[in-house]
Amino acid sequence: MQTVETFFGHLWQQYTDINPQAHAIHALLEARGETVVNDHVALRTFNTEKLGIDRLSKIFEDMGYENRGSYDFTAKQLNAYHFEHCDNPNHPKIFISELITESFSEKLQDIVKRIDDQVDADDVFAADFLYTGRPWDLTFTDYIALLQESEYAAWTAAFGYRANHFTVSINHLTTFFDIDSLNEFILENGFALNESGGLIKGTPEQLLEQSSTMAPMVNLEFSDVNHLIPSCFYEFAKRYPMASGKLYQGFIAASADKIFESTNSM
Ligand code: NI
Repeated sequence: MQTVETFFGHLWQQYTDINPQAHAIHALLEARGETVVNDHVALRTFNTEKLGIDRLSKIFEDMGYENRGSYDFTAKQLNAYHFEHCDNPNHPKIFISELITESFSEKLQDIVKRIDDQVDADDVFAADFLYTGRPWDLTFTDYIALLQESEYAAWTAAFGYRANHFTVSINHLTTFFDIDSLNEFILENGFALNESGGLIKGTPEQLLEQSSTMAPMVNLEFSDVNHLIPSCFYEFAKRYPMASGKLYQGFIAASADKIFESTNSM
């Protein structure tokens, strides 16, 4: 069994390989003397019998994670859950979502079925599956067909298994007072932030404030052509204490709904 550190180490390596922006921001923060701690890492999948969260979550349940919250995204037709580590609250949370495939056209469902058919059912339980990338062939034509119905479906089909984003825990930073000053720092350094729903999603009253970069374009290899498409983004989260004094660890569906749009084309 792999350790939590190994798992996130592989995910981070794979993520920064196509998203040097995250590596650059991480380096800028460390250069200020910060030690970057991840609040959560997000993964995406389809809700098929083989690739649904029920099966994928076995990998992190084996590492000591358990399901601590569920979320519905009606407009985007997604289910999501967040998992926390049972023993070590400093391990990043895992936010995993799945597309409710049957809510879409037969055409989209056919493409997802072709994707699903290319995955061996047992491979899903391999320790490295969640950082395996795209274990299926996909044409750019199919990518565009998915994109017309669901940006989420297109991204997931194109990139497969990898972190969609890592998230810097602002609570663990020592040189930024609040999310505003961090956003300003990111913008000053030339990175674009997601403005859907405002730069900051959520409020202190909701106990969670989030912002994120816009995913930079990457030249991705499809079965037929290579094409520039939006890749992965970097997120920033500040949590506030609940009445008990403990920091809120959940997610706000309305905010996450806007964060999903960080992989839209600018
Ligand atoms: Ni997130």
